[in-house]
Amino acid sequence: MTALIALDHVTVQLGVGARNLTRLDPNLLCSLSEVSMSVNAGERVALVGANGSGKSTLLRLLHGLLQPTQGQITLSQNLRQAMLFQRPHMLRMQVNHYVALGLWLGGLAWSQAKTQAMDALTRVGLQDLAYRKARTLSGGQQQRVAMARAWALGPQLLLLDEPTASLDPHAKAEVESLMQAFAEERSEHTLIFASHNLGQVKRLATRVVYLEKGRVLADLPVHQFFDSAVLQAQCPAAHFFVKGEVL
Ligand SMILES: Nc1ncnc2c1ncn2[C@@H]1O[C@H](COP(=O)(O)OP(=O)(O)OP(=O)(O)O)[C@@H](O)[C@H]1O
Ligand SMILES: [Mg+2]
Repeated sequence: MTALIALDHVTVQLGVGARNLTRLDPNLLCSLSEVSMSVNAGERVALVGANGSGKSTLLRLLHGLLQPTQGQITLSQNLRQAMLFQRPHMLRMQVNHYVALGLWLGGLAWSQAKTQAMDALTRVGLQDLAYRKARTLSGGQQQRVAMARAWALGPQLLLLDEPTASLDPHAKAEVESLMQAFAEERSEHTLIFASHNLGQVKRLATRVVYLEKGRVLADLPVHQFFDSAVLQAQCPAAHFFVKGEVL
């Protein structure tokens, strides 16, 4: 199987002056250190770890919003991808126009973009809110609109950075079921998401990557990650983290 994405000893340094770094600055901390991993089509990868462990940095790197300071990232050719953030940034416009805008920017005629936007809103169950002002929607509704917008672009890879972190349980379940529906729509659909919610990780992921201080310390199939004996033997730090989260 060919990898959609491959990282080879990738290190990322962020901070003052880091944008122009072409090699490592010993005075700057690394947000990611020597990360090597690859993701195949159809996988559902959860990124877990404490605050500041590098989950968002890894997602931003995968989405091309950051460049490696050192190491190499290879994406499969013509990979279509989209990203969702913890709090979607709604523009001051109608919901259907907000969704259509992404399609129009991708080259579609405006009338066609509006039709496809409506289809995408119907898919996430928000067709009745299509003519509301996007900024007047609740957090959960906004996240579903963001999902409609991302999904409408026809991505193979969907990256999500704690997409349900600020939502109530009901909205959380709705967004989770959309993530599930996206993953199940086509066998090549691929999810990579950061989450602090281990229940969600169990429900949605096929594989779990545990990060600590920018390093990948564990990368296991989901059933092994949640098998206490296996995790303790493979990665005591991750085991300690999981125990701490559950307590
Ligand atoms: N723009 C930046 N400039 C300097 N350092 C940064 C910047 N963004 C992130 N960092 C640092 O990089 C490290 C990783 O941060 P990152 O946001 O990726 O963590 P995270 O795992 O997503 O945390 P959280 O669970 O809080 O979202 C942290 O030490 C953070 O302080
Ligand atoms: Mg983060």
